[in-house]
Amino acid sequence: MRQKLVAGNWKMHGSLQSNRILLGRVRDELDGWQGAEVSVCVPAPYLAQAQSMLSGSSIAWGAQNVSKHASGAYTGEVSASMLLDFDCRHVLIGHSERRALYGESDHAAAAKFAAAVAAGLVPVLCVGETLHEREAGVTEAVIARQIDAVLDKAGIAAFGRAVVAYEPVWAIGTGRTATPEQAQAVHAFIRNRLRERDALVAENQVILYGGSVKATNAAELFSQPDIDGGLVGGASLVAEEFIAICRAARP
Ligand code: 13P
Repeated sequence: MRQKLVAGNWKMHGSLQSNRILLGRVRDELDGWQGAEVSVCVPAPYLAQAQSMLSGSSIAWGAQNVSKHASGAYTGEVSASMLLDFDCRHVLIGHSERRALYGESDHAAAAKFAAAVAAGLVPVLCVGETLHEREAGVTEAVIARQIDAVLDKAGIAAFGRAVVAYEPVWAIGTGRTATPEQAQAVHAFIRNRLRERDALVAENQVILYGGSVKATNAAELFSQPDIDGGLVGGASLVAEEFIAICRAARP
């Protein structure tokens, strides 16, 4: 039985003051929630705050990016061991904003994924097609390319210590959610892709849906057989929305 996971991706939002209120509400309402694992991926400067406010609770935290390098002359980069110093559990890898705005290739995402797994972090590998790609009928080819790049670099066993998030780019921050059927179809495709390498890893693989998840659509999305929770952007910044989305995830 796969454990459901709901992870918030705060993106570049927050302040010490607003985070204190948000993290406090999330902790007070969701500490001990048995329905799903809950995690928040915060901007790197706020990892210490997440650590101090969430330590000892059942809520995990993580980062939104990591270097593929262990250390060295890489100005502005943050290594996996630094994230571990702040007890991070998760790190987002290959989010579409990083791919589109910062030129992160499949190859770069694969290297970061491998570095995260090697260090003991749980990477959340984000994959997804653009609207143009969906309309051109190449959704599965794009997802396969993104997954295969990581499989080839890190190996199938590494997926056993990772999470995959399907985030159709056209659904991110647009209010236009994939229908449960559209999302389920791609999730099943991803699981089958992994099954070709290892049936057990595929069966246990947690695959999240991301893209305009809200309290009003979460339960229906999460009830699909291959959707194991959500990666939540905008709604993770609103305590009551995020709490309701987490409560919509149950075994
Ligand atoms: P929204 O939930 O704001 O659409 O963002 C999704 C996302 O990018 C999560 O990583």
